[in-house]
Amino acid sequence: MRVIFLGAPGVGKGTQAQRLAVQEAIPQVSTGAILREAVQQGTPLGREAQRFMDAGQLVPDEVVIGIVREKLTSPDCARGYLLDGFPRTVVQAEAFDQMLKDTGSPGIEHVISFEVPAPELVRRLSGRRQCPTCQTIYHVDSAPPTRAGQCDRCGSALVLRTDDAPETVAVRRQVYEEQTRPLVEYYQKRGLLRRVDAAASIEQVYERLLAVACAVRPS
Ligand code: AP5
Repeated sequence: MRVIFLGAPGVGKGTQAQRLAVQEAIPQVSTGAILREAVQQGTPLGREAQRFMDAGQLVPDEVVIGIVREKLTSPDCARGYLLDGFPRTVVQAEAFDQMLKDTGSPGIEHVISFEVPAPELVRRLSGRRQCPTCQTIYHVDSAPPTRAGQCDRCGSALVLRTDDAPETVAVRRQVYEEQTRPLVEYYQKRGLLRRVDAAASIEQVYERLLAVACAVRPS
């Protein structure tokens, strides 16, 4: 399976990606997670990315294109992959198309666009908690950990993402509308876009996702 997840900040891409990647045994390539790890480790990439991420802005195209190129040419992506958060601009989408051509790789099968009304996005982001070690995503109401503030999988203390502050969320949503939403049309024109109504429970959205992914998978 080779899929791209598209959708506004907080729509639930990461939550669904973590489940689908395990079920399909394919790597989840999350540019946000890769960048957050680099920030945490204080690498040169992390130092460069942090000021953009803290401001709710996109990291420059050439930086994320380089990250994805390196990931997709690694052996663990040979069976397929799930791109969560990339591409995010038309420049990135065109570079990705070129990357596939250059490497003779098979094309993307599905671009899944998750859709949720704006007030629910705010509710989801304001209650999000995340494990800084294994990246598992929680929500104080809709996906709480068994013990408050502690990751069920690895026991680490859960954190709030710095870019989930309300003023940064507002910038991220605007950036999404201006720079990422045009990709819906980009992939619609190529016949790859599948819309998933994500205004439902995590379980229901996952069932909808599977129905869409299975329906378009070539036999
Ligand atoms: P990134 O980490 O990709 O953030 P994002 O796209 O803004 O998306 P989020 O991670 O905020 O939300 P999500 O849709 O994954 O929702 P989640 O599953 O967590 O990027 C962060 C930053 O990195 C960017 O701002 C940018 O600076 C940089 N970056 C990354 N990629 C880049 C790129 N390609 N180019 C340039 N810069 C890049 O769910 C949210 C909450 O809702 C959770 O609490 C969850 O438990 C809950 N939830 C999920 N589903 C449901 C449901 N169905 N019902 C109820 N609650 C739910």
